[in-house]
Amino acid sequence: MLPATTTSEAETRALGERLAASLAPGAVVALHGDLGAGKTQLAKGVAAGLGVDPATVSSPTFTLIHEYAGALPVYHMDGYRTKRPEEFLALGVEEYLYGDGVCLIEWPQRLGNLLPPDTVHLELTHAGGDTRHIRLRGANGGP
Ligand SMILES: Nc1ncnc2c1ncn2[C@@H]1O[C@H](COP(=O)(O)OP(=O)(O)OP(=O)(O)O)[C@@H](O)[C@H]1O
Ligand SMILES: [Mg+2]
Repeated sequence: MLPATTTSEAETRALGERLAASLAPGAVVALHGDLGAGKTQLAKGVAAGLGVDPATVSSPTFTLIHEYAGALPVYHMDGYRTKRPEEFLALGVEEYLYGDGVCLIEWPQRLGNLLPPDTVHLELTHAGGDTRHIRLRGANGGP
């Protein structure tokens, strides 16, 4: 399934739906990538794959965490606006990160060492036009 190349938003969502099937309760998925790389689209796909209506999934840029009830609870987080990991701690993020739901995290590096060691790190990169490369990174987000 990965690495993958997609050429539309719909294709990235479809990939997310397929990836959802391989996520166990408690999975934490870090979504790395630049602005507009498709992290939110991929998150919508994963949420859809877990039974959440993707139309209800919106970017948690200002609220930091959105919660959805799917086959498993889905926690969608976005670190873009955070300056310090403590902002997530104040929201009780450890309950989510070490709970039985699935966490999907945009701008995950902003959470610093709050990310659990078994976090799955995915990276989306722009590859011209509507093309995106999506790949698995190493443990702890390494290459
Ligand atoms: N292959 C593709 N996969 C995903 N999105 C695509 C693709 N091609 C074009 N797009 C467009 O790129 C944009 C991706 O937006 P999205 O909100 O998912 O990015 P993001 O990585 O979450 O950015 P941000 O860091 O701002 O949250 C959308 O406007 C989408 O329509
Ligand atoms: Mg986004």
